[in-house]
Amino acid sequence: MGNKFEDFRSHEAENEKRDQEELFQSYFYDLALSPEDFGKLILDVGGGRGGFASWAREHNLSDDIYTLDPELKTDEKNKLFAGRVEELPFQNEVFDLVVSHASIPQLFSGGRYEELDKKQLVESAVNEMLRVLRTEGEIRLAPLSRGEIQNWHRPVWEVLRTVLDKLQEDGLITSEEETLGKAPTRFNKNGEAIEGSEEEKILIKIKKMHGK
Ligand SMILES: C[S@@+](CC[C@H](N)C(=O)[O-])C[C@H]1O[C@@H](n2cnc3c(N)ncnc32)[C@H](O)[C@@H]1O
Repeated sequence: MGNKFEDFRSHEAENEKRDQEELFQSYFYDLALSPEDFGKLILDVGGGRGGFASWAREHNLSDDIYTLDPELKTDEKNKLFAGRVEELPFQNEVFDLVVSHASIPQLFSGGRYEELDKKQLVESAVNEMLRVLRTEGEIRLAPLSRGEIQNWHRPVWEVLRTVLDKLQEDGLITSEEETLGKAPTRFNKNGEAIEGSEEEKILIKIKKMHGK
């Protein structure tokens, strides 16, 4: 009996390890991270329970990744912070790299935001990420989509582009888009991808220039 429970626990632990490894791989690929990036002070915005940071720590890649998420309880010792991207609990010009994986479209979901001005929300999110970033530091946001198939992504994309184009015009940032390839966005009840639902995934790289 005892053994069965132990078996079950070890399977559970194995699954969790595999999930963490997959999560780490998708961060690594989607955010185009390089080994040098792990020498930087990183903030993971919307980082869930901090799986990216803990995988990097356990594999001796970095002990310098801070995680912020509204669902977290602040635990400074482990660099976990409760908070929202539009009001970051950090001082100015601290981080070298701010990443946000699969979280920016989430800004527009959930009742809390329904009445808020979407442009203002994205503007505060971008301004906050820039505020906590050192000059010449970088923000990377992915995977984003233009919302050609996933309609609810479209307003996020449009507002984000407008906000970034204005900052770029003002010389405060440079921004580049990289395509990550097509991925299915709809699945049937067996978990198989629905044909024709593939959509281009995009990485946005933003560099903070002098003067902001
Ligand atoms: C789809 S999950 C992605 C989690 C993780 N980054 C990943 O790639 O697996 C989206 C995350 O965004 C967080 N989130 C929602 N609204 C947010 C906000 N205003 N600021 C920061 N994070 C937010 C959610 O709590 C959730 O953990």
